[in-house]
Amino acid sequence: MRVPVGPLLRRGLAALGAAGLVAVPSAVLGASPAPAAPPAATTGPVTVLTSDFEDGTVQGWGTRSEVEAVAASTTLARSGSHSLAVSGRTTAWRGPSLDVLDTLEPGTGYLVEVWARWAPGAGTAQMRLSSERRVNGTPSYLNIVGDTDVTDAGWTRLRGYFTPEYPDAEFLSLYVESAGSVADFYVDDLTVSHVPTLPVQEDLPALRDVFAADWLTGAAVAPAETEGDHGELLAKHFNSVTTGNDMKWDATEPTEGTFDFSQADRTVAWAQEHDVEVYGHTLVWHQQVPAWVFQDADGNELTATPASKTLVLERLEKHVREVVGHYKGQVYAWDVANEVVDPAQSDGMRRSRWYELTGLDYLRTAFEVAHEVDPAAQLCINDYSTTDAAKRQKYFDLVKRLKSDGVPVDCVGHQMHGNVDWPPATDTDTTLTLFEGLGVTQRVTEMDVSIYTGTAVTYASVPVEVMTRQADRYKALFQVFLKHAASIDSVTFWGLADDTTWLKSFPTARRDLPLLFDEQLQAKPAYAAIVGLRTGVTPVLPAPPATDPGAPVSSTPASGTSATATSATATSAAGACTARYTVTSSWQGGFQAEVTVTAGSRPIGGWSVSWTWPAGESLANSSIWGGAAIIDGTRFTVESQGQTGVLAAGGTASIGFVGSSKGTPSVPTVTCTAG
Ligand code: XIL
Repeated sequence: MRVPVGPLLRRGLAALGAAGLVAVPSAVLGASPAPAAPPAATTGPVTVLTSDFEDGTVQGWGTRSEVEAVAASTTLARSGSHSLAVSGRTTAWRGPSLDVLDTLEPGTGYLVEVWARWAPGAGTAQMRLSSERRVNGTPSYLNIVGDTDVTDAGWTRLRGYFTPEYPDAEFLSLYVESAGSVADFYVDDLTVSHVPTLPVQEDLPALRDVFAADWLTGAAVAPAETEGDHGELLAKHFNSVTTGNDMKWDATEPTEGTFDFSQADRTVAWAQEHDVEVYGHTLVWHQQVPAWVFQDADGNELTATPASKTLVLERLEKHVREVVGHYKGQVYAWDVANEVVDPAQSDGMRRSRWYELTGLDYLRTAFEVAHEVDPAAQLCINDYSTTDAAKRQKYFDLVKRLKSDGVPVDCVGHQMHGNVDWPPATDTDTTLTLFEGLGVTQRVTEMDVSIYTGTAVTYASVPVEVMTRQADRYKALFQVFLKHAASIDSVTFWGLADDTTWLKSFPTARRDLPLLFDEQLQAKPAYAAIVGLRTGVTPVLPAPPATDPGAPVSSTPASGTSATATSATATSAAGACTARYTVTSSWQGGFQAEVTVTAGSRPIGGWSVSWTWPAGESLANSSIWGGAAIIDGTRFTVESQGQTGVLAAGGTASIGFVGSSKGTPSVPTVTCTAG
């Protein structure tokens, strides 16, 4: 149910007239069927930055401190004859850094790739690719590629997605650091690319109008997404906005008593100019909370004593007072507490520092103080996986208890981070029905639908079939939301479009496309499916481009390290590695197979094997072990992960998987490439 909560929203309702609960005014939707926008031009990734050090200079790279040094070097090179040598490191964070403040555009989602290798003798240790930004003098560090095993025997690629989110940043860099080792290392062949966005499709029905009678339709954004094409898309379709990270504790009170609302204020000001309501996220969470909150004056971790409890509750009260006070009258609802339930605990409570130090009192304090400061704001508790039976019950029990204790909980948030196969509509229906008995309203707070059902697989170009499954999942879940529209006040997506989704770095660095608008900001089948469900008229979208514009161009293997072996017989070639593909068992419709990789006459630090399956053959249910799969149409690649990639001369490693097949499984020719 759409509850008018502010002057902006009331104006919106008046403009629409008395919208019924089911009928959507046809004037809002335009002619039916909605005219298709002109076909989207296909533009592949554009490379905006490279470093190959082939001119013998450092090409703008520097260091993170004055202790270590970088220099162009011919000692090792992944391609050509040069790389960047990093020496003199005394701590793990010291290393090479590149200033990208003037090169990378805020709001643009980039694919960043760089290769790394430890100096000879350093062995294997982890490195990561990160970014540092400074806004108003406060530095923040973001991981682009997590800790990855890198060896001294070959080059390892660090590849991930990165979006500069803050137009106000005064510093922005990309850097490579290690997880522990302070040995020298080399980096080479940096590439940063992006897929240009296309103009917003103006003739499509706006989501905020389609669901006007049902709920507020929201998106979580960073400040950069309120500008340019992103800002236009946001203003067209959404009448609620959540500041993705900017109202969290680490952003608003990074050090005790020093409050910074500058970045959230930017988005709030934009929202007020565009008739968009603001959703507050989040006051209390176990993540993105600065360490000082749980430390004493000397920086020691607090232990569970009555004095610690008093201190932490005082800090919490002060924080809630400041933040809710700052946005009083401007935020219609708050996620007061985020992710506090743990179904594995008998009392259902996550063992966070909050809980360890205060029991349930942190919840009481946060809700009571927020209510006192802004009695008009709706106060919610928020959590993920609330459609799972065990979590649902513990969540319900907690809300019931808080309400019976008189804690002012007005609403229950369901994050709804799902995937193409999950959660089932029936479980979602059960959850929404259960909470309707509690006298609270409900909100979908962070919806997205990942194209992956596990972590083993990555799609380079995403099969059309996966997008259809995604549209079906969105449709099935929205069908349930509409059934419960009377108790649902807002439906928010965790992001605006696929170009900058957080799922490109969580749970691992890979391409994910979980939202209603694609990487070029164009509407996807999932958008058409939910609009059609509500209006009865499914918008006709332009045909997708023949080649996927966002498919990362695979980097060419380093010269001289590739060898091909025919399946079924392992041949010991002079090349860096060979591979043998064996079908170990098969049955009607399926098979199990194994690929054994054998290093050549030299040790290798990583490998990848590729083959093309004939029509009708594919991986079944993401079931693969021993490596990470990349699926690009019928081309299948499996890359080693960490230590499994490190092989002595003549050493072997194996991967296995379950496939599906129409007839007798084939034995394809496998290419093995050493990294
Ligand atoms: C995520 C942000 O989108 C990321 O940018 C950040 O690095 C981590 O947090 N549940 C929540 C959100 O409640 O706050 C999280 O947001 C996603 C999961």
